[in-house]
Amino acid sequence: DSVPDLAGHHVVISAGGTREPLDPVRYLGNRSSGKQGYALARTAAARGARVTLIEANTGFADPAGVEVVHVGTAVQLREAVLKAAAEADAVVMAAAVADFRPASYAEGKIKKKDGEEPAPVALVRNPDILAEISAERARPGQVIVGFAAETDDVLANGRKKLRRKGCDLLVVNEVGERKTFGAEENEAVVLAADGGETAVPYGPKEALADVVWDLVAPRLGT
Ligand code: C5P
Repeated sequence: DSVPDLAGHHVVISAGGTREPLDPVRYLGNRSSGKQGYALARTAAARGARVTLIEANTGFADPAGVEVVHVGTAVQLREAVLKAAAEADAVVMAAAVADFRPASYAEGKIKKKDGEEPAPVALVRNPDILAEISAERARPGQVIVGFAAETDDVLANGRKKLRRKGCDLLVVNEVGERKTFGAEENEAVVLAADGGETAVPYGPKEALADVVWDLVAPRLGT
């Protein structure tokens, strides 16, 4: 088994995908399964960390030995992450956070009306949680990790995103047919703000999770 190199450290992981409600029965969502985030939580616990997992809409059972916070929307996820990050040595944002949410919420179900076109759905931006916690650094030396799913110019776009978000590590996935969303396996490159680049071959999400912790562990203060 792995060495308890995360013992004495508190790590916060977000997992799943936010749902942004339109009315009591409808939402805007995404295809994130949450499997990568849960793999990160299990592996961190196995390596001795105290783990807080902030989960959005995965439907998975709470992993043993992990504190789980359940949220639905990006705004709720932000609140939970900010609260947990205040006491965290590392934060890994594996959740797919909706960039936009409906500008208004209808208290009653939106109905179709005979002979009328549907009203357009106006959207507003959600807060960028990763950029916010990276800029604020609730604790000195806190290590912050983001994820990015890209379809083209994966590395160049990943580097730009790493700078824009201001995090320490960015796990860049190429979004493809059998990869990433809902799959059991993943393939990625982990970019570091200090210039490092670690390729992780196609394999179980647990293996990618362990590479992330391998890169986080030496960056943690003691
Ligand atoms: O900008 P993009 O959505 O590609 O960035 C992905 C990364 O940023 C992920 O780590 C995700 O959890 C985080 N994110 C966030 N808040 C948002 C959008 C994305 O924290 N509103």
